[in-house]
Amino acid sequence: MSIIYQESTKTFYLDGKNVTYAFFINYAGYAEHLYFGKKIPHDDLLYTRMRGPDSCIATAPGRDDQFIEPIFSYIDFPPEVSFFGTGDYREPTILAQMEDGSRLSDLLYDGYSILSTKPKIEGMPSLSGGETLIVHLVDSINSLKADLYYTVYDDCDIVTRRIVYINDSDKIINLKRAYSFAIGLPGHNYEALSLYGSWGHERMIDRTPLHHGVFSIDSKRATSSAVLNPFLGILEKGADEDKGEVYGFNLVYSSSWILKAQVTLDGQTIICGGINDFDFSWKLDPKEEFSTPEIVISYSNEGLGGMSRAFHDAYREHLIPEKHVKSPRPLLINNWEATYFDFNNEKLMSFVDAIENTGIDTLVLDDGWFGARRDDTAGLGDWIVSEDVLEGGLSTIINYANSKGIKFGLWFEPEMVNEDSNLFREHPDYAIGVPGHGRCYSRHQFVLDLTRSDVRDYIVNSVNNILHNNNIQYVKWDFNRNVTEFFSAELPAERQSEFAHRYALGLYDLCDRIIGGNPNVFFEGCAGGGARFDPAILSYFPQIWTSDNTDANERATIQYGTSLVYPLSAMSCHVSVCPNHQTFRVASMETRSNIAHLGATGYELDPTQFSNEDKEEIKNHIDVYHKMRKLIFEGDLYRLNTPNDNEFSFLVVAKDKSHAELLCYRRHCGPGKEVYRVRVKGLSENKNYYIPELNATISGKTLSCVGIPVAFPYGDYMTAKYHFVEK
Ligand code: DGJ
Repeated sequence: MSIIYQESTKTFYLDGKNVTYAFFINYAGYAEHLYFGKKIPHDDLLYTRMRGPDSCIATAPGRDDQFIEPIFSYIDFPPEVSFFGTGDYREPTILAQMEDGSRLSDLLYDGYSILSTKPKIEGMPSLSGGETLIVHLVDSINSLKADLYYTVYDDCDIVTRRIVYINDSDKIINLKRAYSFAIGLPGHNYEALSLYGSWGHERMIDRTPLHHGVFSIDSKRATSSAVLNPFLGILEKGADEDKGEVYGFNLVYSSSWILKAQVTLDGQTIICGGINDFDFSWKLDPKEEFSTPEIVISYSNEGLGGMSRAFHDAYREHLIPEKHVKSPRPLLINNWEATYFDFNNEKLMSFVDAIENTGIDTLVLDDGWFGARRDDTAGLGDWIVSEDVLEGGLSTIINYANSKGIKFGLWFEPEMVNEDSNLFREHPDYAIGVPGHGRCYSRHQFVLDLTRSDVRDYIVNSVNNILHNNNIQYVKWDFNRNVTEFFSAELPAERQSEFAHRYALGLYDLCDRIIGGNPNVFFEGCAGGGARFDPAILSYFPQIWTSDNTDANERATIQYGTSLVYPLSAMSCHVSVCPNHQTFRVASMETRSNIAHLGATGYELDPTQFSNEDKEEIKNHIDVYHKMRKLIFEGDLYRLNTPNDNEFSFLVVAKDKSHAELLCYRRHCGPGKEVYRVRVKGLSENKNYYIPELNATISGKTLSCVGIPVAFPYGDYMTAKYHFVEK
């Protein structure tokens, strides 16, 4: 049993692999946080409770007995959930408006259940497995209930949480804020780490000290977005890659979200969040319930590296579709950067000829194969093969590829429509928009209203029509613009602020039906590069296009930031042409291959331009990749140095520490550059390792203390690889 309830102290202890999470039900009946951190025995933790001298004090509603428990006020304890209107002025987890307009809640303990099988969230993805505790809270005056869900895992250092809000009354309750969790951490000596970015520049690392008040990051875009990833790291001051306590919070959600860290007047830090309550409300009819998305909370006392490994383990074991997480992926070539919209059967067939015997096993046809899509101004939504471009339909190129042993993949952007399309001409109302107002254009396209079931049916049928009638084994699902004009013609006025969440529910319904309904097709996620890289998407798409920026130098940084939370196997990484199309930078084929090798690798360039040398190098890259793929996909990642340094490295160590691969990267070469000696952490200190590149056998202990000097080839943007094999 990983979950224990101790009656004498009313304390719940949840034990993960190396972590313990504890909270108790206090005198007033509120769920009060006690501890989340390194695994500890089930001692009585109530001695840790102290009220700050300046705490404001309010009584529990309807009672004037606060001083019965004199050292503690009802409203300044570290919360598991907090609410507004009854003396607690910190960030509420919930704000519920009753039919009479009042907005107070008072959620008190009402029992618990423990489940050995984790229930799914209806209509939303979540992690699987583990043991689940449900703590039932009730506000008996309003008949509003809240079930707090906690799941712990014996194979990783995370806890997942979510809340289900239940209207047990016979009146309407309007949820104006319905977060997934709150947790009170001791002290306020923390820094917040977030992953910000933009197109071509996704998941850069930002770090800032917390201050009194609220630090908040969010998306208001109905997508998780490249601007900020739905992830918040809370770091003990001074924590680095290898040491210090780090808490990670990652929402399993793809629409507008928020995560906050509040330092309170008595010096605690409260983290909370979930669905963004900006432009949100949810009408909860009598006896209805509302499920919030799941938050994954990790704990590490081995700095950011430990946090990443906790997330990677959790996502590989409990989130990414099991049949794909460890198995080989399509090793594809995508025509986008090679041709953009300018292709035909002959050109694609020449690509097939050029990749024969290289090890590339799938040809992916990107944007432009359907409707009037000769450029990005027309055709989206019309998922009918354009015979102007592909004479004879898709079968000509598919049959040709298949005859040479090459599989075929296809690009879709299911959620979108161009104004210049048959779909829009026939059903302008399918596109999101407010009647009487114009729509914002972005890449000449509009977003379809996924809150509507008829729109979703149209998408499922038209995508399936292509998939069911052609031998397609891979799909790239793109999403190239943000949502604007949040409104659905089908929703009544009082439900319009449900739009962003309903969009996510619509997207998950599409994924369930299209991805679930085509089990033999491999689906890759994409959003104008990596603008929807979140755990919910990962639960459907085992790999996500990391960025449209395929320049190896920039990609190394993007992949570094992404790896803070997401495993290498989740990142789709392609070798592209030089000069690079995004940066015009030139890097060697070896560098481009080595950086793309740190993920689900592939190619994105014109193979008819391959020189014989390129071909040899590509064959070699694919050969090495096949040998190392299991390690890259399943091993433990250690980041050595950071992208702020001229040289930094990624080390992937097998779980049993029997072997490892170190990839070192140097941005600039030149006189005066120091020798880069890297301490190889993460190996077993008790084992000896043979390093073929040095023809030497060295102990793991020496390698971690002394390191190895890295011999980069001369020139900028160079890589060097080292292997370690237990001797
Ligand atoms: C954006 C994607 O990120 C690209 O890889 C490509 O598929 C284009 N869309 C096609 O329009």
